[in-house]
Amino acid sequence: MNTPVPEYLANLLYNCKANGGGQLADYIPELASADPNKLAVALTTLDGLVYSAGDDEYEFSIQSISKAFTYAYVIEELGLDTVLKKVGVEPSGEAFNEISLDQSEDRPKPKNPMINSGAITTHSLIANADNTCRAEIIRKFFSELAGRELSFDMSIFQSEMNTAYRNLSIGYSLRNVSILESDPTEIIESYIKQCSINVTVKDLVNMISVLVNDGILPRTGERILSHKTVRQVLTVMTTCGMYDAAGDWLANVGIPAKSGVAGGIIGVLPGQVGLAVFSPKLDGHGNSVRGIDIMQQLSNDMGLHLLEGVPSSRVIVHDQSVVRTKPEVKVYKLQGVLQFTEAERLLRILQDEDKSDNIIVFDLSHISLVNDVGRRMFLDGIDRLRADGHDVALIDPDLVLRDAKTPRKFVPKIYQDIQEVLN
Ligand code: DON
Repeated sequence: MNTPVPEYLANLLYNCKANGGGQLADYIPELASADPNKLAVALTTLDGLVYSAGDDEYEFSIQSISKAFTYAYVIEELGLDTVLKKVGVEPSGEAFNEISLDQSEDRPKPKNPMINSGAITTHSLIANADNTCRAEIIRKFFSELAGRELSFDMSIFQSEMNTAYRNLSIGYSLRNVSILESDPTEIIESYIKQCSINVTVKDLVNMISVLVNDGILPRTGERILSHKTVRQVLTVMTTCGMYDAAGDWLANVGIPAKSGVAGGIIGVLPGQVGLAVFSPKLDGHGNSVRGIDIMQQLSNDMGLHLLEGVPSSRVIVHDQSVVRTKPEVKVYKLQGVLQFTEAERLLRILQDEDKSDNIIVFDLSHISLVNDVGRRMFLDGIDRLRADGHDVALIDPDLVLRDAKTPRKFVPKIYQDIQEVLN
């Protein structure tokens, strides 16, 4: 059989084709001549498999979608605290190109890194000791994430440069309050070049696979971003990624996202899936009309809304039995995921164990995932059982409890015995 996912994606595009609403962006003259009929969608799974449909090989300029990745880059390079001194994380509720600064603290600064003032500032933070153009550093970083050499679209770049009055005013306002620390014209030019990097929807999902995977690029298995960086980027995407439409987006789609004026939108559901869509006509906020349509349908059809949450499987102890007497061996067969909710349930059940020198075995063969909190609570439970006189052994064939930070020993001899008893 063939998986139905590609068919589903193709259908999705077919269904939204009729929606002809919106306008091409025209403040960048070159974007006004884009083909309004281009339409594409791509999806990456947690393990980095890419599905796509429509004009999935068609290149368009990344524009503001670049802001999310540049933010990640500078946090990795400089540390979050340094970046936060220059750019805040408050939703602005204003248009993406508003010439505004947050005046609520001692020193005015852009409200967030997703609007132009914040993105120009984060771009200025890219360290370029040898005077390499900052945009070139970013192009290389984006190419590493995409898994192929990306290029600048020089006609888009020139076109935006010819009419960059708004971004230049933002640049001068930022220089005036020393948020920018060098010549704003050079920074704006490089920022606009960053926005002109050409991508396809497939490139975009390859790039976001690092955000879906908590900082690890599934294609190479290499850690590119720390957990903290990923969480920060996804947070501002959630609250500010769709500008003054962020509230509507969160209510209706519920996926951390970022849009660009060429018509692209990315969406990242951490630990699950990454999405990218492209259609050039925009609504009044600068977000792709058909792109929003597709994302909303995907979210509804696949239950991807962030706040729907994944309910606990409720039953953590699937079976509990005494498999041998003298010495007594009691086996708890666990199942599902082990996070706070399930760990709390398990520890509550273990409270009923009287003090004794019996052997308690936890069979983790059917545990699919343990998070940090689940691991910590479970190990604490084991320590407490041991303090009460029990011997504790684990059956953990997939090493779900393995954690490099807290290596533990679990009585290998007893493990052998238990295997014999259970077989
Ligand atoms: O700076 C600008 O205005 C453009 N290069 C990018 C703006 C953008 O993509 C806004 N997003 N929807």
